[in-house]
Amino acid sequence: MSKNICFIDGLEGILKYREIDINQLVELPYDAVSYLLILGELPVDQELAEYSSRLHGEREINREVMDIIRMCKLNIDSMEALRTIVSFISQFDPDINDSSPEGNLRKAIRLIAKIPTIVAAYYRMANGKEPLPPDRFLSHGANFLYMIRGSKPSQLEAEVMEKDFILSAEHELNASTFSSRVTASTLSDLYSAVVSGLCTLKGPLHGGARSEVMNMIEEIACPENAEEFILEKIAKKEKIMGFGHRVYKTYDPRGMIFKQLSRQLAEAKGDMHWYEIAEAIENTVIRELVEKKGKPIYPNVDFYSGVIYKYMDIPPQLATSIFAIGRVSGWIAHCFDQYEKKRIIRPRAFMLDEC
Ligand code: ACO
Repeated sequence: MSKNICFIDGLEGILKYREIDINQLVELPYDAVSYLLILGELPVDQELAEYSSRLHGEREINREVMDIIRMCKLNIDSMEALRTIVSFISQFDPDINDSSPEGNLRKAIRLIAKIPTIVAAYYRMANGKEPLPPDRFLSHGANFLYMIRGSKPSQLEAEVMEKDFILSAEHELNASTFSSRVTASTLSDLYSAVVSGLCTLKGPLHGGARSEVMNMIEEIACPENAEEFILEKIAKKEKIMGFGHRVYKTYDPRGMIFKQLSRQLAEAKGDMHWYEIAEAIENTVIRELVEKKGKPIYPNVDFYSGVIYKYMDIPPQLATSIFAIGRVSGWIAHCFDQYEKKRIIRPRAFMLDEC
């Protein structure tokens, strides 16, 4: 594959997948971005129709998988359930031992299609509800919201969910993508590589930050409380969740789009409450850490996405799993790249000092 999977300019705040700017990509359907990441080029209409049809046709999960989801304890983190089930379903994949590019593509499509169904099924069971079968006529975003809620989302909510998956889909060698790539570099199978990614994404310094942001906003409760809350955290030298990034030394471009989307949702719902709390947090962090101390600590991808979930009645327990639904296409794109290289990743221990 010729085009780089991802390009980040952390000083200018630029992000591209396969040479296309993220601001353009969010206007596309998730399926098109997934195709772009995995196959290297944007699909023409016919290619997108075929890819979507294959993806939507693979959304169902079988009864044995449902039974295992039912056996998961109902109070565990949804990421724990997800990593367990993704590992379990590999045995039903007829291509599990086919590591040809075609076999890997078929596995990739099944993984991308089934992960939202698993997340939604566990969520509904954990809340005492029966899982719903996926609707193959809905987009990736609309179908997921339908499967967790039991009713079809508004057009705006469906579009926001699609954009959320796109913004979460890829980010170069972040921790979870790196661990997926390391697994793929041993020529282990795609399910194993995706499980590695899931396990790494779960941590609070990575994908787990999104649910912590939601809890923080809930705890602050009203915009007037935000300043004192943040000042106290800074005084205690605690990290503020949803802020800071190893690569971006300016505003994360995904964070900027999430901010606009959360404002759009707030206005559409006629309820600025959560947005105003978030903005008060952001203003305090920027004043205290950026302007006074000169540290480049801006909202990252996890901050305003947490605000969006508040508006869409998505609970914190689902936040990291939703990140995973989007990110799986990126993990797979990197695994395919790694399979082509056929070379094991084996850093030396001294390199850890630079991490
Ligand atoms: N709140 C307050 N201060 C911060 C924050 C924050 N969120 N992030 C960084 N800083 C400060 C650190 O205290 C440190 O200050 P010092 O130089 O005075 O010691 C300085 O900025 C550098 O911070 P590091 O932790 O060294 O930066 P690093 O690149 O290692 O970490 C990370 C990046 C993990 C994202 C960090 O900013 C953080 O923990 N943020 C909060 C958790 C979070 O939002 N994670 C999601 C990241 S995006 C993603 O993974 C999808």
